[in-house]
Amino acid sequence: MAVAYAHGRANLIGEHTDYNDGLVLPLLISNQTEVALAIRNDDLICGTSNQFLAGQRAVHDGLNGHWLDFVIGALHQLRPFGGRIQGLDIAVKSDVPPGAGVSSSAALTIALLRALVTAQQLPCLTSPELALMAQRIEHDFIGTQCGIMDQMVVAAAKPGACMMLDCRSLDYKLMPMLPDHAVVVIHSGNVRKLSDSVYNQRLAECAAAARTLGVDSLRDATIEMLRKFAPDTKMKRAKHVISENLRVLAAVECLVRKDACSLGGLIDESHDSLRSDYEVSNPALDRLVGSLRDAGALGAKLTGAGFGGCVLALCETASVDTVISRAVEINPESYLIDVICS
Ligand code: GLA
Repeated sequence: MAVAYAHGRANLIGEHTDYNDGLVLPLLISNQTEVALAIRNDDLICGTSNQFLAGQRAVHDGLNGHWLDFVIGALHQLRPFGGRIQGLDIAVKSDVPPGAGVSSSAALTIALLRALVTAQQLPCLTSPELALMAQRIEHDFIGTQCGIMDQMVVAAAKPGACMMLDCRSLDYKLMPMLPDHAVVVIHSGNVRKLSDSVYNQRLAECAAAARTLGVDSLRDATIEMLRKFAPDTKMKRAKHVISENLRVLAAVECLVRKDACSLGGLIDESHDSLRSDYEVSNPALDRLVGSLRDAGALGAKLTGAGFGGCVLALCETASVDTVISRAVEINPESYLIDVICS
């Protein structure tokens, strides 16, 4: 039997920049997904999970929206590396909440790939190789046209460190979290809705903006370029992406200078831009972000794609308990997912 695990993630800043070749600054949460699997002598995949319905399928069955599609995808992705398409018994145990913006599917996919590499005795894969494979599973087997942030941070980051990732080159640097500060991750209680269709729409809007601006991707666009065009919807999306990349660079500076106040300000600006220019927030997320700020957080924003799920807040370690209890008191449907410390 082979066992592997992978953590979920929160994104400190750099939202909706990854599929624009941009910059991101995510970090792992302690919640994780564990996969145990054993090779069978037939071609059946039999899976149990504490989060999803158990299922049984043949390896050559078509995809049908069941979580076992991730397993079929992983088997296929490993073929060029010597993997075999074969039957498996799989047990998944996870406390990464699905549909909450904390990368439950990247955690599942990376844990599955790691377990299969061990079970099929394949050569070790690098983190970028694993991440790109996991992204192809999302694109080709699940139908989500996501960027590379989730898979890269889940495959390559270390607990307690922020990962400055360039999504164009896949170069990354792990940076320590601010001492005496914590990142609190709270579920708004509002389940993510419409995410796939609106996500794909934002992707198309960004591509259209890049075409109009005459650049390959919005990574190469500047605020000055926007001034020549009417501020229509696609230019609002571009404004978010361009300003968010600048905020990631400024946030990295804050980590280096250990400047928590300015970092909090950037996190607030990120949320405001996601709400008004990128339009991926909703009233439940805005309310919780507002309560966290009022309760003493240095900054708060939604994390992940938006449209529901989790928010994060940067807090002084000494004020974490007060911030959480005040925010949850005002938003009784919300609940704590994790507190990330250095
Ligand atoms: C989802 C996607 C990521 C990224 C974020 C938004 O989590 O999977 O690739 O685009 O949304 O930053």
